[in-house]
Amino acid sequence: MHREAERLVRLAEDLGRLSDAQRPGLMLTKEHVDLADIARERVDAVNHQLGEHGLEVDVELRPAMVDGDPARLAQIVDNLLSNALRYSDPGGTVTVRTATHDDAALLTISDTGIGMSPEDLPHIYERFWRSEKSRARVSGGTGIGLAIVRELVRAHDGQIEVQSTAGAGTRFEVRLPLGTLRP
Ligand SMILES: Nc1ncnc2c1ncn2[C@@H]1O[C@H](COP(=O)(O)OP(=O)(O)O)[C@@H](O)[C@H]1O
Ligand SMILES: [Mg+2]
Repeated sequence: MHREAERLVRLAEDLGRLSDAQRPGLMLTKEHVDLADIARERVDAVNHQLGEHGLEVDVELRPAMVDGDPARLAQIVDNLLSNALRYSDPGGTVTVRTATHDDAALLTISDTGIGMSPEDLPHIYERFWRSEKSRARVSGGTGIGLAIVRELVRAHDGQIEVQSTAGAGTRFEVRLPLGTLRP
């Protein structure tokens, strides 16, 4: 009962965030910010949880300036990190990287977890969609995290790509335009 109640609270929160993220002309307060700083802060915030789950964290943060809303960018990192945690078993590694490439800032979050099959990939950004395997896992998510991520990436004129192999792991790459605002 208690766990179900917690799940419902999380669902309500996630739904609120999704409808926020989908509002046309979502109000972003854009600042000249370094994705590396945001990633570092969010990794620090969940480092303990990752450790408790028996996961190594491998961090390689190079400066990657973007014009973005720090709170929304943090949410992108949080949602991808929570998936890496939730869909990995003890002994795995979660890797977080930021860098620039050509005219883009990159954020990469990879895991050595359960991965996804090719049939699953077209659905992962759909609201409420969760793979068969995920639904069997103890710590249930609500199936909204990636829908939020996609909207927030879109609101920042970016793209997101995923590569995944069932049983081996998953890698999400978020690509955002390099920042041009004055610091
Ligand atoms: N890192 C990952 N490894 C394996 N599967 C993943 C990963 N991230 C997302 N998925 C799959 O995509 C589904 C949707 O993800 P998400 O929208 O964050 O929902 P939730 O985490 O609440 O289930 C998950 O249920 C899972 O099946
Ligand atoms: Mg999730």
